[in-house]
Amino acid sequence: MVKIKIDGVEFEVDEKKNLIDAAKDVGVEIPYFCYHPALSIVGMCRMCLIEIEGVPRLQAACNTPVKEGMGIVTKSDRVKEARAGTMEFLLANHPLDCPVCDKAGECKLQDNAFGSGTGHSRFEFEKRNVPQEEIGTNLIINHNRCIVCYRCVRFEEEKVGVSNLGLFERGNHSLIGLANNEPIDHNFQGALADICPVGALLNNKTLFKSRVWWYKSHSSVCHGCSTGCNVTTNVRDNKMYRYMVKENHEKGMFFLCDKGRFDLDWMNENRLFSYLDSGKSSTSVEVLPKIANLMKSAKGIAVIGGAHESNENLTKIKNTLSSISSQLNGKSILFEARVQDAQYKETEQVDFLMTKDSHPNTKGALDLGLTTSDGISGIEAQLAKGSIDLIFVIKEEIPSSLIGKANLVVLDTNLTQSAKSATYAVPIKIFAEESGSFTNKNSLIQNFEKSMEAPKGLPSSAEFFEKLSVSLVSKEEALLGNR
Ligand code: SF4
Ligand code: SF4
Ligand code: FES
Repeated sequence: MVKIKIDGVEFEVDEKKNLIDAAKDVGVEIPYFCYHPALSIVGMCRMCLIEIEGVPRLQAACNTPVKEGMGIVTKSDRVKEARAGTMEFLLANHPLDCPVCDKAGECKLQDNAFGSGTGHSRFEFEKRNVPQEEIGTNLIINHNRCIVCYRCVRFEEEKVGVSNLGLFERGNHSLIGLANNEPIDHNFQGALADICPVGALLNNKTLFKSRVWWYKSHSSVCHGCSTGCNVTTNVRDNKMYRYMVKENHEKGMFFLCDKGRFDLDWMNENRLFSYLDSGKSSTSVEVLPKIANLMKSAKGIAVIGGAHESNENLTKIKNTLSSISSQLNGKSILFEARVQDAQYKETEQVDFLMTKDSHPNTKGALDLGLTTSDGISGIEAQLAKGSIDLIFVIKEEIPSSLIGKANLVVLDTNLTQSAKSATYAVPIKIFAEESGSFTNKNSLIQNFEKSMEAPKGLPSSAEFFEKLSVSLVSKEEALLGNR
C-alpha cells in the first residue's frame, strides 16, 4: 500500500492499481468509458482526465499507476471543463434515443452525461445515420450509438482469441464492423453487449424484453458449468429474465459465456409442478407411500446425480439418507453424483471461461463424499447383478444403461423426458428458488441468494428426502398401532 492525496485528502491505496481503481476503492469516482479492468489500456476516450500535481497537462487516470506521495485533483474547474468537452464530442453525433435504447438505465453515456455533461448541445448539423446491422447469430450493432471505445475489439482479441471485429474508416466516419463478413458465432456475444458501455452492441435474445429498472436483482452464481461465474440475477414477475456479470476483481471474474448467460428459459417454462406416477399427474399423498414401500422392499438403493444441487441440500440429503438406511436396518444406499465423463476428470476448459463439466457443484458433491469408488459403472454392474433395484435420479437424464432395469424415481425441476418415463417423478425447486452455495472447480465455495419464489408447496430435493423419511416412519407407526 502507498499513500496518495486525492483532492487534498490523504488515502492509503494499493500500489498495483491505476488511478481509476485506486480512487474507486476509497470512494472517489473518476468517470471513464474505454477502461476495463480485465482488458489492456488504450486511453482512447479521454473521459478520465485528471490533474496530477507537478504535471502541467491533464493526464488519463486509466493509464497512470499510483505512486507513493503523488497528489491528484479530480474535481477542479480544469478537470470539469475537460470532461464536459469530451462529453460534448461524444454526444455530437450520438442519437438522442435513450427512450428506445435497451441500454437505458445501465448506460455509461447516460451516467457520465448526467455527472459531467453540460446538458445542452451546440451541434447544429445533421447527425450521421448508419443502419443497424446483424453482426452475430445473437448480436446486433447500432453504429450511431458507438463511441469507438474499442472495448469490443480488445475483448475479442485478448480474451476470446479471435478478431471478428475491427475499426474501419476514420474520424466522423469511424465504424466498428466485421473484419471478414462472417457473422460472429462464438460463446461470448452476450459479453460483447455487456462490456459495450453504450447501447451499440445488443443481443437479440434479450432485446426489448424489459426496462432494466423493473428487475429485482440478487447475487448469485451461474449454474452452467463448474467455473461458477458470479452473476446478478434480474427477475421480473417471478421470472428469470437475465444474468448479468457480477465482477469479482479478487478472483478475476469479469465475464460470462453465452451458454450460462442465456440458459434461463428452463427456469420459467415447462416446469414440473406435480408428482407423476408412471408419467401421469398425481399427488405427494399418493406417491410418497408408494416410494416408501419401494424403498422397504428394495434389495439395494442408489441415488445418482445431485451436482446441480447446493451444498446445503446435499448435506441434508446425505444425513437423511443415512438415517433412512438405519430405519431400513442398514440397507445399502449408494450415492454417486458423477454422471458425466467430465465429472471424473481434472477440469477441462472448453474456452477461456467455460468447462466441459456442465454441473455447478460437482466439487461440492465430491467434497461431501457423495461418490462411490467404482462410479456410475459400478452402479450399473450392481444393477446387472440385481443387488440394486431402486434408483433415485436427481435432475439428470436417466443414463440409457439404467432404463428399464430398475424402479426409477426422478427428482426434477422440469417436465423432462426422464420425469415422464420414470416410475415416479418428484417436482423440486430450482436452485434460484433457495439460497445456498456451490463449490467451483477451484474449490471456491460461493454463496448465492434466493432470487425467485418457488411455486407454493414445491419441496427442494432435500425436503423431498426428509418427507420420505417421515413417510417411512409414519407408515411403520401406523402398522404398529393397528396390531
Ligand atoms: S461497439 Fe460498443 S464496445 Fe465496441 S467500440 Fe463501439 S461503443 Fe465501444
Ligand atoms: S463459464 Fe460456466 S459458470 Fe461462467 S457463465 Fe459460462 S456456463 Fe456459467
Ligand atoms: S478511460 Fe481513460 S482514456 Fe478512456
